[in-house]
Amino acid sequence: MTSRRNFSRRTFLLGGAAASLAAGMRLPLLGEKHKLPKLKGPQFADVTGPRSLRAHAQAVGLLVGCAVVPERLTGEPAYGSVVAEQANILVAENAMKWQALRPAPDKFDFRSADELVDFAAAHGQKVRGHNLCWHESLPSWFAGTVTKDNAQGFLIQHIQTVAGHFAGKLHSWDVVNEAIDLKDGRADGLRKTPWLEMIGPDYIELAFHAAREADPTALLTYNDYGIENDSPDSRAKRGQVLMLIRRLKARGVPIDAVGIQSHLTVGDPMPGAGLLEFVREMARMGLQVFITELDANEHKVEGLVADRDAAVAKLYHDYVAMLVAEPNVTAVLTWGITDRYTWLNGEKYARPDGKPQRCLPFDSDYQPAPAFFALRDAIDKRRP
Ligand code: XIL
Repeated sequence: MTSRRNFSRRTFLLGGAAASLAAGMRLPLLGEKHKLPKLKGPQFADVTGPRSLRAHAQAVGLLVGCAVVPERLTGEPAYGSVVAEQANILVAENAMKWQALRPAPDKFDFRSADELVDFAAAHGQKVRGHNLCWHESLPSWFAGTVTKDNAQGFLIQHIQTVAGHFAGKLHSWDVVNEAIDLKDGRADGLRKTPWLEMIGPDYIELAFHAAREADPTALLTYNDYGIENDSPDSRAKRGQVLMLIRRLKARGVPIDAVGIQSHLTVGDPMPGAGLLEFVREMARMGLQVFITELDANEHKVEGLVADRDAAVAKLYHDYVAMLVAEPNVTAVLTWGITDRYTWLNGEKYARPDGKPQRCLPFDSDYQPAPAFFALRDAIDKRRP
């Protein structure tokens, strides 16, 4: 294991080998787990090293990155190389959720999540934690085991153990995810989650306090979706998120940031004045804003690949350029890096024509898409 070549991050080049790698061919493993193959090719010279997203982001003091699946980082060289080359911050797409970490009520399994944190450390990347409290991705034992009597204990113990395990290593935690849903009809806008029904509305502040205590250095974040544009639904939900944040701040709850998921859909109203006003209000309250799960669902776009790509790229550009001009917007993460693995090909969002979505900066063969260049241009619009 000692005689193999050593590649520093700056020398990574994605190249012609990417397609064959993507097709399943593996380069020989390079000794230590985190050494990645050097992939070359003229089409990649324009997107790597000083031309990568992370280099452009660093130049303007911004974090840029993506959601990842830890096993692919070391198991699939093209994937690992692109992620190492492009991102200065990572988040686990699923590996830090309850379902992944809690095989049984009394067991925690950190192996996969630790793999991500180790990879990030090896490549000089920060890590976001996602998430500590959500109504989805709960383990199958949850219902039936967690009751009104013990729910608060389960939540607090989970946060103490998980945030404690990663303490000092994370940039931020999504402490509470998606707590607002106007469809549930409550005056406070809160979603009727198992946590709300078993603990009551205080579950949110309990979670933030427990997170701060377990990891005093991670930025504590409230994260939500469907608050981006100025449609009546989006405006109403954004208003309730604002009220929630105001209540938390007024009660001295430790919260540092708001995550705007940004699962955008091409053809929906373009986010604009309402979102900007929200971001500025967060700044006045001393909060950072992260774009946490950006992608552009193009299931309504018909036509040629080039037209679809252009529509997706325009959305990336206009959205990110608008937001990164705001000084308190400090991180931009896409929900995945390659179309190969986007969740948008799942049942809920798949294109009606059955074609795979082209919604992320790299396509399913790890070729940079127009969205890559659009995102990079948008990053450049930030004032350092
Ligand atoms: C999604 C993942 O992408 C899927 O792989 C998983 O099956 C379900 O969760 N909002 C969130 C993310 O906060 O955690 C979700 O991720 C996407 C929507």
